[in-house]
Amino acid sequence: LCQAHALKQLSQPWLLPRPQLPSSSERSSLNSPFRGRRTPSQSLHAKTIALLFSKRSTRTRVSAETAASILGGRALFLGADDIQLGVNESLRDSARVIGGMCQGIFARVGDHSEIEELANHSPVPVLNALSSLWHPTQILADLLTLHEHAHLFPGALPAGTPHFLTPERHDHTLLSPLQSLPPLTVAYVGDSANVLHDMLVTYPRLGHSLRIASPPQYRAPTPVWDRVVELGCDKGIHWTDDPREAVNGADVVVTDTWISMGQEAEKEERLKAFNGYKITETLCQEGGAKPHWRFLHCLPRKQDEVDDHVFYGPRSLVFPEADNRKWTIMALFDLLFGKWDISTTEIRH
Ligand code: CP
Ligand code: NVA
Repeated sequence: LCQAHALKQLSQPWLLPRPQLPSSSERSSLNSPFRGRRTPSQSLHAKTIALLFSKRSTRTRVSAETAASILGGRALFLGADDIQLGVNESLRDSARVIGGMCQGIFARVGDHSEIEELANHSPVPVLNALSSLWHPTQILADLLTLHEHAHLFPGALPAGTPHFLTPERHDHTLLSPLQSLPPLTVAYVGDSANVLHDMLVTYPRLGHSLRIASPPQYRAPTPVWDRVVELGCDKGIHWTDDPREAVNGADVVVTDTWISMGQEAEKEERLKAFNGYKITETLCQEGGAKPHWRFLHCLPRKQDEVDDHVFYGPRSLVFPEADNRKWTIMALFDLLFGKWDISTTEIRH
């Protein structure tokens, strides 16, 4: 998160507080501490990252393509209709061939087993751009957005206070630090799908509690819940089928589509099962969300799960959240693909 925050400021220098901007003579002076530190890492120079996407994407794809170019490399989009995969060639063979020519694979797949198959057979690192079970890069963007808006939540420490997210490793000393978050109550109302699953294994480990409303038949599947328990996250999670109970005491309210990509045939039964789960101001007020509650959604959004008043209103952080997909994906590309060394299979710092 700190690296994403740093890359965001380096790529958009106008975000830096004015007094901290060095003059151009300071920047170019041979002895200047600013020399060489004012642009994002070029760690993807001469590298190509394959975007192996079997499902649609706006945010993840645009983030990946623009991030790779800022890091000095190239993203090569390989959609379902572009290559032999799935028609004439197996995942195993595709992983070996694409991994032999590219320096990283960012893959959006159907069943989660597909990403495991890719990772097992690729000679280069594979990063999950969404699978049936997980959507890890989304949660990094959500967390960055919450940290950037920490001042909205009572108990936040002032910017610059040392905390567990202090950027100890990166050397962009002029950048403004990421703000601390107080422990939050995060409510999720909707389908237990990939986005929620990464929230389950992330938020409790960072000291935030989760309250989730989902119909019993749409709760986390066994492999996900096993991982939640393995990580000790289950203690910080409260499940209910009552959306009002879930939002009680919430600082943040989150939802996702009720019909994920690939579930279109279940539309009718899902709309019935989630009746009453739409996020509205009334639901949150009646349920007792905290007065300052804010709203997150990974997008794309349908009108079923949240009304326009909340989605486009002052509580909504959805567009800064979408923007932050880019910076968090850029930080991951820098770390996993830019600083990864094929000769040692380790990350170089
Ligand atoms: N949130 C998200 O992953 O959006 P896309 O499907 O547009 O990439
Ligand atoms: N749960 C949604 C997330 C989209 C970003 C899906 O899988 O379609």
